Parts: sequence; structure tokens; C-alpha cells
Amino acid sequence: MKDLTPNRAELDQIEIAPIDEIRELQLKRLKWSLSHAYSNVSFYRERFDRLGVHPDDVKTLDDLAKFPFTTKANLRDHYPFGLFAVDKSEIVRLHASSGTTGKPTVVGYTQNDISIWADLVARSLRASGVRAGDMVHNAYGYGLFTGGLGAHYGIEKLGAMVVPVSVMLIEDFNPKAIMVTPSYMLNILEEYHRQGLDPRKSSLETAIFGAEPWTNAMRHEIEQAFDMHAVDIYGLSEVMGPGVANECVETKDGLHIWEDHFYPEVIDPETGKVVTDGTKGELVFTTLTKEGMPLIRYRTRDLTKLLPGTARSMRRMEKVTGRSDDMIILRGVNVFPTQIEEQVIATQYLSTHFQIELVQMGRMDSMRVHVEVLPEGNSQDQRTAAAQELARRVKEVVGVSCQVEVAEPGNVQRSEGKAKRVVDNR
Ligand code: DLL
Repeated sequence: MKDLTPNRAELDQIEIAPIDEIRELQLKRLKWSLSHAYSNVSFYRERFDRLGVHPDDVKTLDDLAKFPFTTKANLRDHYPFGLFAVDKSEIVRLHASSGTTGKPTVVGYTQNDISIWADLVARSLRASGVRAGDMVHNAYGYGLFTGGLGAHYGIEKLGAMVVPVSVMLIEDFNPKAIMVTPSYMLNILEEYHRQGLDPRKSSLETAIFGAEPWTNAMRHEIEQAFDMHAVDIYGLSEVMGPGVANECVETKDGLHIWEDHFYPEVIDPETGKVVTDGTKGELVFTTLTKEGMPLIRYRTRDLTKLLPGTARSMRRMEKVTGRSDDMIILRGVNVFPTQIEEQVIATQYLSTHFQIELVQMGRMDSMRVHVEVLPEGNSQDQRTAAAQELARRVKEVVGVSCQVEVAEPGNVQRSEGKAKRVVDNR
């Protein structure tokens, strides 16, 4: 793999500023954002008034903890435009997150919001090893989903060339970087194998994976397969879209949060109390510069912990291992799909594709893991051995019993964007 460490002179000065300077900027912007929300969105004004808190009372960043949380349900209750803080004539773009149940949540961006978003995606790309002049294959879905257009504008802002496709033109165009969900990258890998091409000889030097949880085991697998870097990009439509945080290619040690635009907190999901950095809990974001739809203390449901800066001054968040919504509780044990992913990858003869099915056996909930063998492991003995090995690993490492169904190569459902890891048939 090539060394893609960016030159420090290319970074935004604030990325490597002394932490006090970043905190000072955050406090100034936090006061603005709270006032903006209070003055222009009745939802926030009523809730702040009810709790007896006012933006003018904020003297330190810790004072934010006195303000109420915002949830996805709040966004849905004000569907579609009820939380916008500017006149609709100032909104230049809408995106929406489909969500699995209920109404989508709609987000509106002003021209300035779009510009900041592009800057932050450009910053994320630079952290991932991409430079002006490089070609980037953007395979995130275009449309209401923030992935496609969010990445697109950032690639252009960096001065790189965007290939806005989700089909295989990699071999013809020779891009240096790819932006895609990690589960979809596995399909691309499969296509390489199907066409008899060597992925290690592809032009790709770095991949920017996000929109779904993925593990370091998956990183290792894909990095080896393509002889390229794989870094993590995080974001959510309510807060902005991709580019809220990004890993640095030189350290790959968690995602630096672009704290000049988003203030992170981690809370205990049960009590709502802010926990200290280093303690795992639910990630909460307050936007510091967003005009169209500011968000105050938005509960993401993503589980992680905050860590001090390394390659940049801004704090990192640990790789998100799962959302509280995705947690499976099986006979009292909490299980995340990423824990199963690690064990699937570690098991001999199995491909990296998997899906978890929840079924009821008698009065008990039970977990069935659907996996498939690699073509080279497709004998009855190898399939049986793989099934036994995976069940044993899951029992030992994750702490639950599961049934394993080993299918023929190509029989587990493929991802077309965000992978659907759990099917609930209870
Ligand atoms: O997935 C935005 C995005 C697009 C991020 C492209 C990165 C790349 P939503 O559809 O609103 O937005 O989904 C947001 O996806 O709360 C997380 O649960 C999950 N998620 C996003 N990035 C990551 C990641 C986009 N790197 C939800 N690791 C978030 C783990 C992620 N989960």
C-alpha cells in the first residue's frame, strides 16, 4: 500500500489547531446555533422555555447539557419542514432518510450549508489520502439519500474528478479512490473474481467506506484483497450526511469528528447523563453552523466513545460497532451484527457475505446465521466443518448459541447499498 499521508500544509488550519482554540470557536458557534434555533424554530423555543433554559445562559460548553435532547420522533412529528430555521426560499436542497418504519425525516440545506458540507467531505477525502487531480469513483446512491450527492460535491470541491456511477467502470477509468458502502465493495470484489481480474492490480489506492457499521476484520480483508487502504467515513442525514467524521489514512484509529462544525457528546442511553470521554454510550450531536435545520443535542442511537485527537487535534470517535436499534437481545445477551461479521470473517471456507435471521423455536427466540462457502471450500465436509466452526466461535466469543446455515456460493442476499443484516421472522 502506498503512503498517502497528507502534507500538513494541505490541511485546514483548524484541524491541527491547539485544542483551546477549537474549544473557543465551538463555544462561540454553539451560542450562535442555540440562539438561531431558539429564535427561528418554535419547537426549540417552547422546549427551552419549558425547561427554563436560554441560549444567553451558556457560558461554557458544559452548559449545553442543560438543554433538552432532540430525537428522530421529534423530526417525524414536524414532518416535513417544521424544524427548518430559515424561510423555504433560502433552502436550496432537500434530502430525506427513509428509515425503516414511519415517515422519513426531511433535512433542508441553505447554500451556505451545502458549501460547508462540501468543504467537510473534501476534508474527509484529504484525510483518506485523496488529492486534487485524483479520480474518485462515487458509488454511494444518488437521490434523496445523502450519500451520493454529499460525496459528489465534496469530491468536486477538493478539485478531484468525480465518476458518478454505481456500476463497474473501475477497470476502464482507473480511479485512485472509491466511495461506497463496505458491503457493496464485496460485490465489486466478487465481480473482479468473476471476470478473472486481479483486484490487487486495480488502480485503487484508497477506499472510503461508510453508511453502515463494519469491522476492522472487514478492513483487513478488503485491504488485502485490493492492496489498498480502507478508511471509515461517518455521517447521518439529520446532522448533515457523510463527512461528519472521518478516519485519517495515516493512523486508522477511529474517526476524527469535524468539531469546528459539530459538537459531540456521549450519554448514558438509559439516564441521558453525559459520560466522560473514553466511556461508551450513545452519540449525541449539536450542529454549530447549520442554518437550514440546526439540531440541538440530536440522539443518533449510534454507540461509540469519544477519544482524544491523534493525527488531528479534534477528538475521535471509536468505530461505530452498532446502533442501539440493531442490537439483538438473545436470552439476555446483547448481540450486534458486527460481532457476527468478525466471526464469519475468521471462519475458514466462508465468504464475507452473511445475514442473520431471528426465528422463534418453541417459546425461545433463536438466531440463525446464513453464510455461504467460498468456491474452494464447497465440499460437504468443508461445509459441515465451517458451520461447526462458526457456531463454536459465536458461542465462545459472543456468548450465544446459533444455528448456522451454509449455502452454496452466491446464495446469500447481496447488498445494494446499506446491507440488511438482520431479518426478523419471529
Ligand atoms: O448513511 C450518511 C452517509 C453516507 C455516511 C455515506 C457515510 C457514507 P443515513 O442514511 O441518515 O446517512 O444513516 C445514518 O448510518 O446513524 C449510523 O447508524 C450509520 N452509519 C453511517 N456511517 C457509518 C459508519 C448516511 N461509518 C446512520 N459506521 C448512522 C457505522 C454508520 N455506521
